[in-house]
Amino acid sequence: MDREKVSGRSIDLEEKIRNLVQPDAGVIHASVYSDPEIYQLELERIFARSWIMLCPDSQIPNSGDYFVAYMGEDPVIVVRQADGTIAAFLNQCRHRGATLCRGESGNTRNFTCTYHGWTYDTAGTLTNVPREEFSYKEPLDRKKWSARRVPQVEVHHGLVFGNWDENAPDFRTSLGDAALYFDLNFGRTEGGMAAYGGVYKWRVQCNWKLGAEQLTSDNFHFMTSHSSAITALIEGEAPPFDGEPGRIFTSVEGHGGGFLAGQEAFVAQLMTTTGQIGADYITQIEQPGVAAKFGQQWADFYPVYCNFFPTFGYLHANRRINVWIPRGPNEMEIWAWVLYDRNSPEEVVELRSKVTAMTFGPAGIFEQDDSANWVDIQRPLSGAIARTSELNMQMGGYQSYDDWPGLTGPDLTEVSARNFYARWLELVTKPNEALEAGATKQEVLANVR
Ligand code: FES
Ligand SMILES: [Fe+2]
Repeated sequence: MDREKVSGRSIDLEEKIRNLVQPDAGVIHASVYSDPEIYQLELERIFARSWIMLCPDSQIPNSGDYFVAYMGEDPVIVVRQADGTIAAFLNQCRHRGATLCRGESGNTRNFTCTYHGWTYDTAGTLTNVPREEFSYKEPLDRKKWSARRVPQVEVHHGLVFGNWDENAPDFRTSLGDAALYFDLNFGRTEGGMAAYGGVYKWRVQCNWKLGAEQLTSDNFHFMTSHSSAITALIEGEAPPFDGEPGRIFTSVEGHGGGFLAGQEAFVAQLMTTTGQIGADYITQIEQPGVAAKFGQQWADFYPVYCNFFPTFGYLHANRRINVWIPRGPNEMEIWAWVLYDRNSPEEVVELRSKVTAMTFGPAGIFEQDDSANWVDIQRPLSGAIARTSELNMQMGGYQSYDDWPGLTGPDLTEVSARNFYARWLELVTKPNEALEAGATKQEVLANVR
């Protein structure tokens, strides 16, 4: 197949990208954050074939509950079915392409397009076409003209993930060596986790990768970017910035995150935000639960931040999950939820919710620091010179710790960022054959009067 003709793109673009992103050398070209051609490749080659977190399943507890999420820039309706399973399909009417559901969430028995009234059931199957018997030579093929289903949907630890690629490995396989770390973040206690309340949504004028790479890799910025906020929170001097307070993990699939070492460190940290009651929950319920489930060695560390490739971020210490939703090369939308342990006391849950809003909600004091950095990186990229700069991600290496799968290391290293971009590079330079071959010819003539 002649790919140049099929995709309308030059293979030179792939060669160009290989020069722009050199994970082994720790060098990345600033244009990957703003180039519109690269952004289009990301939509087709990353977002159309990676596992994307759609919502917590507690967002749609009952049959007929729905939530409109995004996979890249494609809106999808996520719906709880009568049998308790979850289906997801493109939020696009197959008649003339209108947005099928204009709501953001709710409960329904079907979705009726507001343009001409085509109706679909909660699985996305076309069930009714107004005046069909008068207007078409033959009944429409309901299967063929149903909404486009997301072929793979899975739920893990109460989180719903979808993948447009029917041939992609299942979700756990795609975690690779990061599977244990996923469980250590989201499966800590037998009761599991759920989202408290609804979703926060806000926009930041920066490329989506700036958020994703930070939660994958960057513990380094904390004491500099957040020093004022930390000082304000703990009413005193920030802890000294030295020693080895934690460990990081990363895997060749592009996931990454970090843990604090030692009970004292995390209890001290949490005392600053959730007070004695929050700290007591950690030491008396959560960590003993982790020791019983995973082994004491894992209760000696406390998860802080992580990002599962490409766009699912989590700050365990603040109980905030989020997705980074691309809105063009120069803008992203953050959607965030507060998670709580189902077996934690109600007052801890409410405290957590307030603390999350205060720290990493849209107006959170830490969130403001991070957003300011990202916007500050993005803004100069409109300049002809700034976007041609090579940027450095050469910090630190990695080492092996017994029983820690994947690549691990001390907390101050950019090895996870290099892994994130190695995975990114692998995907954006590999054609998505199913998409780039173009739409299959539609056998529509038989129905045209
Ligand atoms: S576009 Fe939906 S019914 Fe016509
Ligand atoms: Fe931060």
